[in-house]
Amino acid sequence: MENGHLDEQRKFIDKWQMHILLSRHTVPDLHLPYTALWSKEALHSFCEHYRCLYIKPTDTWGGQAIARIQQVQGHWIVKSPSDEPILLSSVEEIWNVLNPRYQTKTIIQQCAPVASWMGRPLDIRALLQRDESDRWIWSGMLVRIGGENSVVSNVQVSFGNVQPPNQILPHILKSRALYPQVVEKIQTISYALCSKLDEIHFFEEVGIDYGVGRHGDLWLFEVNTNDALGGPSHELFAQLQDRRLYDEIEARWRSRQMNVARELWKDLFHSAEADNTSDASSLGDL
Ligand SMILES: Nc1ncnc2c1ncn2[C@@H]1O[C@H](COP(=O)(O)OP(=O)(O)O)[C@@H](O)[C@H]1O
Ligand SMILES: [Mg+2]
Repeated sequence: MENGHLDEQRKFIDKWQMHILLSRHTVPDLHLPYTALWSKEALHSFCEHYRCLYIKPTDTWGGQAIARIQQVQGHWIVKSPSDEPILLSSVEEIWNVLNPRYQTKTIIQQCAPVASWMGRPLDIRALLQRDESDRWIWSGMLVRIGGENSVVSNVQVSFGNVQPPNQILPHILKSRALYPQVVEKIQTISYALCSKLDEIHFFEEVGIDYGVGRHGDLWLFEVNTNDALGGPSHELFAQLQDRRLYDEIEARWRSRQMNVARELWKDLFHSAEADNTSDASSLGDL
């Protein structure tokens, strides 16, 4: 059933399944961009309702495979992170250009009405990890600012940069006084998202990408979890001038891994011991 299910092989929830999960089980104060699966009908309908759209494959990362479509004076500009913008004059043309690129499962999404930084896309990356008692811990957050002319805030693909939230967010909000409330709201929402995910799978780490509106409204771009291919980046935090958060994140991860290894050894030891006892008892039966 389509209910935010886990991909059993990769052990992850793709962008479409995540959208389904969070639109069925809403998190208070969190806005989800209007989203549908990529199809010609969906493209026509979204182009009628919105002047700006994102196209995103459901299982990629790093901002690489994303395109933004923007309506400007009766034309459409299609822009991807690594290509020059293309000017098109009809929705049919957009379909003909983009559909060959999106042959795997893909979503189409309204551009969230969020703030940018000097014309560059901006998002907030929050990271949560588990502590030694399996509880979710708020590890920290940072702001990513995409490079010039970029349509994504992922720093590697766009040659962007990361900044501490307190140096950016108070300036993009309508009033600086909103900043502490926004921080608190991000934390509350992030914990709520982790609790929702707990119902699907036992993830170790969760990295959440938020956009923020001028009034402090929060829009979800993406939820990243650890899976068979990797996990949410720690290295982003190493790019902050103050490396303390990064050191804490790495230390928490290492101690968690040590614990997992210790538990594994304990289990192995106990099952070996149980094997010996059952061998002994079956021998005794003879
Ligand atoms: N609906 C949207 N509205 C505005 N910006 C978006 C939207 N979706 C994605 N973006 C921008 O593109 C970036 C990458 O999108 P995301 O869904 O996180 O994909 P990826 O898995 O490639 O990181 C976001 O961090 C944000 O800057
Ligand atoms: Mg992302």
